[in-house]
Amino acid sequence: MQIKDKIVVVTGSASGIGLALVTRFRQEGATVIASDLNAELGAQKAAELGVRFVAANVAKEDDVVRLIGDVEAQEGPIDLFCSNAGIAIGAGPETLDKHWQLIQDVNVMSHVWAARHLVPRMLERGGGYLLNTASAAGLLTELHSAPYAVTKHAALAFAEWLAVTYGDRGLKVSCLCPEGVWTPMIENAPILQPTAVTTEFLADKVMEALAAEQFLITTHPTTLQGFGQKASNYDVWISKMRHLRGKAMALLGQGQAAFVGKPE
Ligand SMILES: NC(=O)c1ccc[n+]([C@@H]2O[C@H](COP(=O)([O-])OP(=O)(O)OC[C@H]3O[C@@H](n4cnc5c(N)ncnc54)[C@H](O)[C@@H]3O)[C@@H](O)[C@H]2O)c1
Repeated sequence: MQIKDKIVVVTGSASGIGLALVTRFRQEGATVIASDLNAELGAQKAAELGVRFVAANVAKEDDVVRLIGDVEAQEGPIDLFCSNAGIAIGAGPETLDKHWQLIQDVNVMSHVWAARHLVPRMLERGGGYLLNTASAAGLLTELHSAPYAVTKHAALAFAEWLAVTYGDRGLKVSCLCPEGVWTPMIENAPILQPTAVTTEFLADKVMEALAAEQFLITTHPTTLQGFGQKASNYDVWISKMRHLRGKAMALLGQGQAAFVGKPE
């Protein structure tokens, strides 16, 4: 897909990867609609970039419906919908149910709701494009947070399913699976920082992949190397991950989980 003159929605637009995607899509000549839960920062960043902002909490289906309806009424049919908003919270199984539910809603159900309300419209008009942000954690794991690892696996599985099911009917799907990217999300994850890439580098990768209509978008060669090792010998891969987890916890200092964030 060429981005120029397309109608593009990006969720999680106030910060990090979403902000970088809005910036790049705007530079490439798209009509971009930025959306975030953080209405104040989101509106400020959108105004700086000269794009329209729609506040929405993607953890609520009604908000996703309102966002899609608002854009299609004002700008026209959405060509590319980027379900990018995501959170990293929790640690192990002791993570409270309400926090498991929240991360499930933000990282997975928001993708389901976007597809539920947009895919029928896209199929009816002969096609459309979904860019869903999962993570390298969806292919590998996340060393600090089980809820993050689980929900990113689910996000990748859902994107795969959409691509398999609707690809023959004109729906394009890409799944963004970065390793460390310099955004506020990795501030408390020192293990990711030495190899973290910039959001501009990530935006380059996304533009290349959208042009090629490629399903899987990664940012680090280590992601697919690790995925290959996992496929060829799961037990060896798990023992490598145990070793890496030891390093990650030592870097954190107290052996505590990094992603205890602000879930509410
Ligand atoms: N930074 C990384 O290293 C990295 C790596 C892999 C995947 N990701 C994924 O990339 C995506 C963007 O992450 P980021 O690094 O830019 O993080 P970020 O924290 O900088 O930005 C996330 C944005 O999402 C918004 N948001 C959170 N909950 C929301 C909700 N319920 N509704 C709408 N907006 C909401 C936040 O307000 C924020 O503006 C996430 O899905 C994340 O899991 C990030």
